[in-house]
Amino acid sequence: MPFDRLEQALRAELDELDELGTRKRDEPVIVQVLPPEGKRGPRVLLQGEDQRPFLRMNCNGYLGLASHPEVIAAEESATKRYGAGPGSVRFISGTFFPHVRLEQRLATFHSREAAMIFSSAYAAVMGVLPPLVGEDTAVISDELNHNCIISAMRMAQPARKYVYPHLDMRGLAVALESAVGDGCRRVIVVTDGVFSMRGDHALLNEIVELARRFDHHFDENVVVMADDSHGIGAFGQTGRGTEEVTGAQVDVLVATLGKALGVNGGYVVGSQLLIDFLREKSAFYIYSNPTTPAEAAAATKSIDILDSDEGRADLAHLRGLTRRFEEGLRSLGLETIAGEHPIVPLLVRDSKRTRKIVERMREAGVIATGLAYPVVPRGEEEIRFQLSAEHTLADVDEVLDILADATGG
Ligand SMILES: Cc1ncc(COP(=O)(O)O)c(C=O)c1O
Repeated sequence: MPFDRLEQALRAELDELDELGTRKRDEPVIVQVLPPEGKRGPRVLLQGEDQRPFLRMNCNGYLGLASHPEVIAAEESATKRYGAGPGSVRFISGTFFPHVRLEQRLATFHSREAAMIFSSAYAAVMGVLPPLVGEDTAVISDELNHNCIISAMRMAQPARKYVYPHLDMRGLAVALESAVGDGCRRVIVVTDGVFSMRGDHALLNEIVELARRFDHHFDENVVVMADDSHGIGAFGQTGRGTEEVTGAQVDVLVATLGKALGVNGGYVVGSQLLIDFLREKSAFYIYSNPTTPAEAAAATKSIDILDSDEGRADLAHLRGLTRRFEEGLRSLGLETIAGEHPIVPLLVRDSKRTRKIVERMREAGVIATGLAYPVVPRGEEEIRFQLSAEHTLADVDEVLDILADATGG
């Protein structure tokens, strides 16, 4: 075997994951999505589980737009018109009308001059942050930022890197003071909008205020960049995410089209000059295909729906479900983090118990995600529940009943 010694080393790493209990190999395979029926929201069938329906409480599709008939119709009609794939990167011959229209729609939705799409939000962050890091740039990051921000920082190799404790504005101010002392020319403060493990959110108003306060110390400004992939379409009265909730506007906003918006892809919005610059400098834009024209058409339809009475009604329903679920957890004596975002963590604070509760829920037909060390710090083990506007009050009550049983509450 030409790779036998390498494979031995790889196997040892996999064994280590097995020992830690963090290997993800048992991915459930969804073979069918069953539409809502009576008082029940949609269910899924899983490979190897016969015809037993499961309620998904771990899907990022906060508005259920992936199965919206108008979104599906937009995707189908664009596939027929333009084909199944883009065939090339954007600047060669992969720019289709739906890509351009989506970018215009995103810019308008976010009240920005311009937008640019990527194949995913991960690619967007990787494609946006490194080109903005020049010589003598400091990047300042919240300690719980998503893996894509951490990877982008590694790729960017800034002259200085500071990580502040989660949501700690005093820690951010200390980092900004250090960047002044270190003689940096440019600073990028980068944060998740909504943090995916906890459903809490960055204090964007305070971050922007601090950035503006320190701005005059730096030749090329203090720029605030946020990735609000879990916030857009799920958070705020009109689904404009953490900016809407905190009343702030950041300089560079990244998000996904693959969670609340129900399709696939990522994007950045900002000034026209920023977008012009990124189209020339972003490797993930220049050398990698965009989403399909059909995905772009479907995403535009999703934004149209979100930005309508229907979307705002769905968001209100989602907030109602989230409130009911949080209150239900508390009345069972269980610990959660209060907030309006549909990520609702049940803090179990013990790995074994977390795994047990997740197993018992699955036996009862509910899938939720258990998060244990090292994904979350020891002592903060949790089960992450995600509500969707597709869920019904009966679904929420069903989950709470099962939880009462599974936790002995
Ligand atoms: C903050 C953040 N950014 C990016 C992503 C990845 O999004 P995408 O699947 O579009 O790459 C996620 C998803 O987990 C996320 O939480």
